Amino acid sequence: METDILQISIEKVKQSKLDKATLNGRKFGATFTDHMFICTYQNGTWQTPKITPYQPLQMEPSARVFHYGQAVFEGMKAYKDQDNKIFLFRPDENQERINKSAKRLAMPAFPKELFFEGLNALLRVEKDWIPQADGNSLYIRPFMIASGRGIFAAPSDEYTFIIICSPSGKYYAKDVKVVIAEQYSRAANGGVGAAKAAGNYGAQFYPTQKAIDAGYDQVVWTDSTHAYIEEAGTMNIFFRINDTLLTAPTSERILDGVTRKSIIDIAKSQGIAVEVRKIAVEEIKEASLNGSLKDMFGTGTAAVVIPISHFSHKNVEYKVNKVENRYSDLFKKHLTDIQYNRAEDEFGWRYEVK
Ligand code: COI
Repeated sequence: METDILQISIEKVKQSKLDKATLNGRKFGATFTDHMFICTYQNGTWQTPKITPYQPLQMEPSARVFHYGQAVFEGMKAYKDQDNKIFLFRPDENQERINKSAKRLAMPAFPKELFFEGLNALLRVEKDWIPQADGNSLYIRPFMIASGRGIFAAPSDEYTFIIICSPSGKYYAKDVKVVIAEQYSRAANGGVGAAKAAGNYGAQFYPTQKAIDAGYDQVVWTDSTHAYIEEAGTMNIFFRINDTLLTAPTSERILDGVTRKSIIDIAKSQGIAVEVRKIAVEEIKEASLNGSLKDMFGTGTAAVVIPISHFSHKNVEYKVNKVENRYSDLFKKHLTDIQYNRAEDEFGWRYEVK
């Protein structure tokens, strides 16, 4: 057993299960590294953090997470450059957002210093697990669950904060097709849509499966009137109409995506006109029909930037006109060149893990 600077106790596995030959091209989020970071909250304070072998948790069947869904998470990636240097992308944003999400779910904040020390220590232990090939990275999943005993419908008095890591290839192998929601909703005014709450994702599975059964990949979520576009599945969504880039404003219903805000900054730096405003479903249908819809894409940490080739609304399928030099391709290249340390970090977004 070793101890890190912030008194993180580290217990390493006796035998790593890493197979370097198959590290690239892995299915997203399907395999996990040798270790995990874990820290529990008891008696009003966070206890000694640990890095332990990746293992099942032992938990009270009455833990609030199972009954009331008190759970929040984040998605981050570690990238390895050609010199084996390791980088994260805007990790402050994830650290701040998990605590915003936690606050909305009446959970305690996880201290910033512990978040960064734990993450760095875990990545140092798992550095060999970070793939290097383009399109591959180590997906990092920090999450917090209510692990205390008792099913009284009130916040737990104990929590568990964990970070697990998964070497992953692309989330989507090709451009996606989406259905614009006319019946189901992802989020409500005054609800938890802006939080990265586990239940926001679970609640999407049923309508998303219906979309998949109909030959589509994802649902584009609309507002309560189903007239305005909000998000695309687990991603934020952008449109190019003529040469203007459009995206919906974040709100209490929409997740403030790190990739979303980075794409807006990249677009502006390229002199592209950006409009952050309400986007009517009818406007997008019309743009598809008159040829001015030149791109449509989702953005997120897992998916990066994924072009949308078709969308369906009220059982009619519409096409996104494919143009040369798609914005989605340009933004994806610009973003990933920064993430993989292949380009100058003009915005100061890279964070080196040492
Ligand atoms: C991410 O993009 O990191 C997400 O959190 C989406 C996830 C549900 C795959």
